[in-house]
Amino acid sequence: MTAKPSTLLRELPADLERDRLPKHVAVIMDGNGRWAKKQGLPRIMGHRRGVDTLKDILRCCKDWGIGALTAYAFSTENWGRPLEEVDFLMTLFERFCDQELKEMMQEDVCIRFVGNLSALPNSLQLEIERSMAETQHNKSIRFSIATNYGGRQEIIQACRAIAAQVKQGLIDPEQINEALFEQHLYTAGGCDPDLLIRTSGEMRISNFLLWQVAYSELYVTNTLWPDFDRAAFHQALSAFQQRDRRFGKV
Ligand code: FPP
Repeated sequence: MTAKPSTLLRELPADLERDRLPKHVAVIMDGNGRWAKKQGLPRIMGHRRGVDTLKDILRCCKDWGIGALTAYAFSTENWGRPLEEVDFLMTLFERFCDQELKEMMQEDVCIRFVGNLSALPNSLQLEIERSMAETQHNKSIRFSIATNYGGRQEIIQACRAIAAQVKQGLIDPEQINEALFEQHLYTAGGCDPDLLIRTSGEMRISNFLLWQVAYSELYVTNTLWPDFDRAAFHQALSAFQQRDRRFGKV
């Protein structure tokens, strides 16, 4: 978490109520390519800047007392991007694991990668295993990076795992409920996001956390991800605190 540390808004802004902050924020980090184009840079530079933004929002969550952040870094559909872009992103993830681990330990960050990790390059899988193992007991914030993640695919693999247990006679179909199902999702052990932020104006979920966002508040901003700073995050949290969350009740 070394790059671009924001010196502004270190403390929780006075207009935000600490006990009404989301416990878990999820982000769809969209607009990196457009940001780069606007600067006359290749698309990949948008992703590089996007990592700096992500690190600062992670630190901000920690500073302000938000216990979990999940970022959509690479979807199952993103393999369809140009090979150089896919390779660049894989290298970014690997470098992140390698270079940020020490600081993540110091900052007490628990790193999780969620998605179908077995399809990722072997060298990246090793770095992911190391990052998750070394940080698993850290408590200040749970930082989940959705990599080769697809919400539908996550649900299907959970169904398969449960079906296999039924077939072996380990569980009865009657025992399948929401709590059991959640144990088979990549996100098992965490809480659902209270707030889902999408940058760059698109009003879509894009196959992200389909099960988990059932009752999340959605917030879309036109700001491109690399420009999403603490002030923009503050606005998102203010909007969240103005929402009336009824969870289907009146
Ligand atoms: C969407 O913007 C962004 C992505 C598909 C990749 C996001 C990844 C990062 C920010 C890197 C995260 C890195 C780590 C280490 C966790 P886009 O490229 O689709 O933007 P566009 O819609 O403007 O083209």
